[in-house]
Amino acid sequence: MCGIVAYIGPREACPILLKGLHRLEYRGYDSAGVAILNSDLKLYKSKGKVSDLEKLLEGKDLSGSVGIAHTRWATHGEPNDINAHPHFSYSKNLAIIHNGIIENYAPLKSELLTRGYAFESETDTEVLIHLIEDIQINEKVTLSEAVQIALNQVVGAYAIVVIDKNEPDTLIVARKGSPLVVGIGDGEFFVASDATPIVEYTREVVYLNDEEIAVIKRNDELKIRTIANIEKTPYVQTLEINLSALEKEGYEHFMLKEIYEQPRSIRDSMRGRLNVESGVVSLGGIIEYQQKMIAAKRIIIVACGTSWHAGLVGEYLFEELARVPVEVEYASEFRYRDPVIYEDDVVIAISQSGETADTLAAIELAKSKGATIIGICNVVGSSIARATHAGSYTHAGPEIGVASTKAFTAQVTLLTLMALMIADRKGTISKSRYHQIINELDAIPAKVKKTLEVSDKVMEIARLFKNSSNALYLGRGYNFPVAMEGALKLKEISYIHAEGYPAAEMKHGPIALIDEEMPVVVIATNKGTYEKVVSNIQEVKARKGKIIAIVTEGDQTVKALADHIIEVPETEEMLVPLIATIPLQLLAYQIAVMRGCNVDQPRNLAKSVTVE
Ligand code: G6P
Repeated sequence: MCGIVAYIGPREACPILLKGLHRLEYRGYDSAGVAILNSDLKLYKSKGKVSDLEKLLEGKDLSGSVGIAHTRWATHGEPNDINAHPHFSYSKNLAIIHNGIIENYAPLKSELLTRGYAFESETDTEVLIHLIEDIQINEKVTLSEAVQIALNQVVGAYAIVVIDKNEPDTLIVARKGSPLVVGIGDGEFFVASDATPIVEYTREVVYLNDEEIAVIKRNDELKIRTIANIEKTPYVQTLEINLSALEKEGYEHFMLKEIYEQPRSIRDSMRGRLNVESGVVSLGGIIEYQQKMIAAKRIIIVACGTSWHAGLVGEYLFEELARVPVEVEYASEFRYRDPVIYEDDVVIAISQSGETADTLAAIELAKSKGATIIGICNVVGSSIARATHAGSYTHAGPEIGVASTKAFTAQVTLLTLMALMIADRKGTISKSRYHQIINELDAIPAKVKKTLEVSDKVMEIARLFKNSSNALYLGRGYNFPVAMEGALKLKEISYIHAEGYPAAEMKHGPIALIDEEMPVVVIATNKGTYEKVVSNIQEVKARKGKIIAIVTEGDQTVKALADHIIEVPETEEMLVPLIATIPLQLLAYQIAVMRGCNVDQPRNLAKSVTVE
């Protein structure tokens, strides 16, 4: 949610900033801007994408070795040139980029208005930079002191970078609730919302913690203190991101690349954790809390979006394997409804980005009630990963496409490993069944690879349904979350209205929507409730709906009923989500491409939602 990048060092700043913005564009893409400090402070910004900003910059003098840049996902004020970041202070001596929300911007603004300040934009960010300048002038303090005083008056979330024409060798950086990383190079510093703009220049990074201010000075060491003025020693970490993971590598879109990466990413999420020969599942990151998980009377899963769907699969897995009751909660609902949380509850927080504001707040709430918090995150070093007591990274690699694909299957893989580990230690599963499942789990990457061969068949189906305005996705048991996730993928990237439903619930409402125009995607791989799914398909057929069925290879009954079938390899019922999701991702992708949609950056969405 908004990407920020800044540079100070011996090189030309602008090319580094623009490349960084492209890497961060998944975070928001309604406007972009850059400010470069040379003898003068030059600021350019425009509505639209980073490529629109680049057009604006053509022919301009952009020389300078210090600068800040921003790609925006609007919160306050519509996306237009004026509301785009960076924002100047009143005198135009300072400029700021900001990710987050200043909640008390209205009273701060009123106060500044009464003191003669005027505002160009509708943003909360402009209020903050005016406030910083007001403090700098009236209290006669340095930029870093002014930032510190201002942040003590601010309620809300922020990651900011501020530059000052009169302190040309300094960047002031601060964070609370929105991520920030400082890259330390040889006589140069990079600042960004995540490590992706930094990795090609340096692997040495410092992740700022909440309420920390970093003072970055040319030819000096990084200095960090809190807004309460406590000095901190920077904790330097080494990045392990592979640069090729940030490129499309010949694929038309990141989303397609990420769909095709799944045989590898699922394998990576099991690497070192699943040992089929010795029959051991071991998740090093949560080993210390294993006993708490075994003893838990209840597991609560909190997440948002696609991660919430993975949580639903987790519910089925933990209940079936580890015989522990599970509640799956939207983090945004959980955090505001005064939930009943016991000290022996285990809360599993799932998040690809590790930055989702609602999930983070849900964690803090559960923590304050004494529950044990286990994280499942993809982004190493992210806020959620750091806020949990323990956790396991999904190791899916950077996911750039805004619609989540490989992160989902990696999350489900980890939940499967966790449930198996707990079930085995608890003794709620027989040894033979346990071995059967881990053997099959080990075979999943190859089966996912095989499943990807359905692409041509999916393309034919996509051509027939690309102009639909609605779609229904049905599934039962483990396939119910798969139906929800399939529908979410379609609506996110193709803007076709789609709903995922438990197949049996269809008759309580959605059946009214079915006519000869309506595509109904049914995931019909179930063994346990196969006959019931067949009945649900018949109910749709009786109303002339068009059935697209995902079936197990060799299926005859559904094949005879469905209008279109997509065959997937047979597997354990509890592992089907890892397979059946693949054709649904491809279907959404193909339809979106045929409709001319921007697949990697769908309208109004952002990959990392750091506002509530
Ligand atoms: C956004 C993204 C979704 C994602 C959700 C939760 O809405 O567009 O793809 O599922 O946030 O994000 P998280 O990073 O917590 O998994």
